[in-house]
Amino acid sequence: MKEFRKTTVPSFKARKAKGEKIAVLTAYDYTMGKILDRSGVDAILVGDSVATAVQGRNNTLSVTLDQMVYHTEMVGRAVEHALLIADMPFPSHLLEPNETLLNASRFIKEAYCDSVKIEGGQNCAQTIKHLVNAGIPVMGHIGLQPQAIHQLGGHKVQRDEKKLLADAKAVENSGAFSLVLECIPEPIAQKITDSITIPTIGIGAGAGCDGQVLVSYDILGLTPHKMARFVKKYANLEETIEGAAKTFCQEVREGIYPAKEHTYPS
Ligand code: KIV
Repeated sequence: MKEFRKTTVPSFKARKAKGEKIAVLTAYDYTMGKILDRSGVDAILVGDSVATAVQGRNNTLSVTLDQMVYHTEMVGRAVEHALLIADMPFPSHLLEPNETLLNASRFIKEAYCDSVKIEGGQNCAQTIKHLVNAGIPVMGHIGLQPQAIHQLGGHKVQRDEKKLLADAKAVENSGAFSLVLECIPEPIAQKITDSITIPTIGIGAGAGCDGQVLVSYDILGLTPHKMARFVKKYANLEETIEGAAKTFCQEVREGIYPAKEHTYPS
């Protein structure tokens, strides 16, 4: 098996200067964390997308801090090589600075996590600074911020170039090590990528970003609902799992399973 060295925040950041593209996927449990870590992915994000991918919710707003720490701890025990990033759920990073710091520190202290991700631009600049000063690496997230869907009027492409560029600069100046760009037209995402020194990780932001992130359940074909334009399906596990379960049911009913080899002799 190919050996991968542990990705650290400095080595993650350095990939931009070297012109090396960055691959990031989400995970929510030990099993998926282990498999994805073996794949050589650069970073694993325990996203608040756990709400839609795993919990059957319509959006990410209901996820609690305790739930995020719980999922991150499971993934954290699995991951040896990828950089581990945990999403701070709504509104755990929008509180008074020291309360936000205590919330963020739970991922580091309780869940083996390397860093946190925060949705927000200029409005979160002070928060990011506060966490970074305390030694917690922060990934920013601008463009479509799913935690702000009520403000944005839904999951919509974000096209306000001036605001997006100002948000990106504010996040960079606050000391974030990287920045997610979600649902932004490719030319604007390219401009942002060219205007900051930290890596941009796109999701629905085109090929010009320094890296890409997708929800693992989407690329594996485990998402039952309609997927966004930017998703590429690399497998159809929904079909595979349903097929395996159907065969099991049939074999039990027909007395094919268990066979001799699955049975303890006397
Ligand atoms: O919650 C999530 O999974 C995310 C991304 C996919 C960027 O925030």
